[in-house]
Amino acid sequence: MASKEFDIVLFGASGFTGKHCVKQLAEVCKENPGLKWAVGGRNEEKLRNVVDWAERKTGVNLKQVGYVSADVSDVASLDAMCRRGKLLLNLVGPYRFYGVPVVEACIRNKCHHIDISGEIQFLEKLQLDYHETAKKAGVYIVEACGFDSIPSDLGVLFVKKQFPGILNSVEGYQASHHGPEGTTLNFGTLNSAVHVVANRNEIKEIRERFHYAPLPECKPKLKPRGPLFYSDLCGGWCIPLNSTDASVVNRSQRYLYETEKERPVQYRQSYTRRSFLSLMSFIFVMINIGILSFFRCGRKLLSKYPKVFTFGVFSHEGPTEAQMATTSFTFTFRGRGFSSKSVEKSGKEDMAIITQVDGPEMAYVTTPIGMIQAGLTILKETSYLPDRPLHFSLDPKSTIKAVPPPDPRLIRLSHTQCSIFPVSHRKMRSKTTNLRDVSKSASHIVPICAIQIPSQIWEQTLKP
Ligand SMILES: NC(=O)c1ccc[n+]([C@@H]2O[C@H](COP(=O)([O-])OP(=O)(O)OC[C@H]3O[C@@H](n4cnc5c(N)ncnc54)[C@H](OP(=O)(O)O)[C@@H]3O)[C@@H](O)[C@H]2O)c1
Repeated sequence: MASKEFDIVLFGASGFTGKHCVKQLAEVCKENPGLKWAVGGRNEEKLRNVVDWAERKTGVNLKQVGYVSADVSDVASLDAMCRRGKLLLNLVGPYRFYGVPVVEACIRNKCHHIDISGEIQFLEKLQLDYHETAKKAGVYIVEACGFDSIPSDLGVLFVKKQFPGILNSVEGYQASHHGPEGTTLNFGTLNSAVHVVANRNEIKEIRERFHYAPLPECKPKLKPRGPLFYSDLCGGWCIPLNSTDASVVNRSQRYLYETEKERPVQYRQSYTRRSFLSLMSFIFVMINIGILSFFRCGRKLLSKYPKVFTFGVFSHEGPTEAQMATTSFTFTFRGRGFSSKSVEKSGKEDMAIITQVDGPEMAYVTTPIGMIQAGLTILKETSYLPDRPLHFSLDPKSTIKAVPPPDPRLIRLSHTQCSIFPVSHRKMRSKTTNLRDVSKSASHIVPICAIQIPSQIWEQTLKP
């Protein structure tokens, strides 16, 4: 493989998320001084301002950072950019409009590609149209490496790994926490989400084109939830989310079944808020965005006045640093299954596990961490990855000290600085006997408990 100038090219570095990725990559350079990277985009002045800002913020000397000029509408510029990089971190969205030419250029020019798309149609169509071509080229096209959908996808794999029996289902509860100033998301995310909603019917046709063979049925099935329900587990009101996360989790489950014959698990995700009123206000904003997204004039209004028409949830300015510093998320996972094959045959679940993943602000702190660590994994830990991708030798000065965790599929999560805290569900904790704390792992992600549940406790606290 001809040598390439940069280990990483960060394309879309001038955007809001891009800027925070530059800062995160600068932090990573403290431990990896040999890493060669560049920022890419269509406006060099903006790129220089971002790099200067990141230099001031981190105190890392970024004079060696390269600048690559590329515009999605100019294929030759994309080819030139991808020829120079081993790995492209792509932050140019909405991906349904800008994503495909970048992926094609990556495949043509043997450059691995990571995105942070949460656009379900783009993600599934990309797999459909480019999986075989990318595989033949030995290039990884890794999707959804941001808050969408690393915590949920690897969270489910983690539950599966820690479950001491046969896992049948996982329910994930996503919660966000804010400081007194609240928080907001940058317009770029709204702009992408609006087109996901407006084109929601496409997904059926895309899925039909996969011609998937049915997966083995998981029994008992997760009982349907109502549109709103209270969860004792997370102490809040919940709404089931048919989100990108569920699609990503299901695709991983299918992959593991087809390649490693692993039993798939069912997954359901819900969004939770402490108070009923707070959840109602969230639903109101989402319905409002949903309705406006259907109409061209509605989309225009959202684009021009996001703050007004989303009641402050989105803005052109994005969150302030103070808001980001006081925002965080929690995922609580409850897995259920069987202690043995014979119990599985009886169809009665008798075991449960609770795990919890905490992390910093979702879109502009967790997402850059997830994306960059996924990139470092591809560059540094190729031998753990499936399908023998292209292997680029790294500069010997690179000193990434990643200790390979026991399961390569957990690599990315174990680097994301998420941490586990005891589940604050007193009722359950006080009632559970035989609590088996398996938190000795060096990984930051540890399960809370794996328990054989006495039947009356199952009835009172865990029964769906
Ligand atoms: N998965 C997650 O959790 C997560 C979190 C955050 C963001 N995201 C996604 O990340 C994407 C970016 O969001 P954002 O808020 O950072 O958006 P943004 O601030 O609008 O940034 C968009 C970037 O794309 C660049 N761009 C636009 N058109 C281009 C073209 N023709 N050629 C080259 N570059 C072009 C812009 O460059 P200029 O500066 O030159 O205009 C800018 O750098 C969105 O799709 C969003 O949904 C996902």
